[in-house]
Amino acid sequence: MENERSCKLSEAPQKENRQIYLGNFKESDIDALAEIINDFYISHNDGHPSRSYIVERAKDIINNVNEISKNNSKIEFGIYKKDNNVLVGIIGLRDIKKNETGEIGYSLSKKYVGNNYATDAVGAMLYYAFESLKLQKVFAYVLDSNIASQNILIKNGFKEEQNNRRELKWYKKHLKVFIEKMYIISKNNYYKTRESSLENIKR
Ligand SMILES: CC(C)(COP(=O)(O)OP(=O)(O)OC[C@H]1O[C@@H](n2cnc3c(N)ncnc32)[C@H](O)[C@@H]1OP(=O)(O)O)[C@@H](O)C(=O)NCCC(=O)NCCS
Repeated sequence: MENERSCKLSEAPQKENRQIYLGNFKESDIDALAEIINDFYISHNDGHPSRSYIVERAKDIINNVNEISKNNSKIEFGIYKKDNNVLVGIIGLRDIKKNETGEIGYSLSKKYVGNNYATDAVGAMLYYAFESLKLQKVFAYVLDSNIASQNILIKNGFKEEQNNRRELKWYKKHLKVFIEKMYIISKNNYYKTRESSLENIKR
């Protein structure tokens, strides 16, 4: 599994401007990972988790990532900047149904947003999902208000699945109801999108 992960990721077709790569977490990533988790909490909740809780979550991810990947139902990779190998984000697939479907999720450190890193990371993850895991479809649920994330998916060839919106009920101080849209890309559409984008790069 480990070799398969490294090998297929390093074969992912490189767009000439791709500035990131996906890789396995290292012990030395704890601080950077804690920052990413912290930013995620702040953008999705109105609470600020304690520093010790965040660091424990980061350690859990690093210690368990190879373990959870063994059962093949969930996979997580770090998103690393190519020029200095710094961890800038996290990307994964969950609910993987072998040879069928998987749900993609990703998060970037606030420091690094706006550089197309997440768009490129989704591209690399799709390569892994279709080439290595042989999935037929990859899907995502995105908050209606999360336009950046919807753009990332659309740029990678995902289409919104009509009539598949769901309500997310979240209770903290008050009940809040959010709408999530579902986006999907099939294996066939992935290869079509990839061929045309590689074609554009050659021109
Ligand atoms: C969502 C997230 C990954 C986006 O990161 P990012 O660095 O902005 O992503 P990218 O630069 O790769 O691409 C974002 C695209 O959306 C556009 N965009 C960003 N914010 C936007 C907004 N408010 N309105 C319209 N477009 C927006 C960008 O211009 C870019 O498109 P472009 O390349 O065509 O200009 C990041 O904000 C994050 O980690 N958020 C918290 C976790 C999260 O929401 N994860 C997704 C769960 S489904």
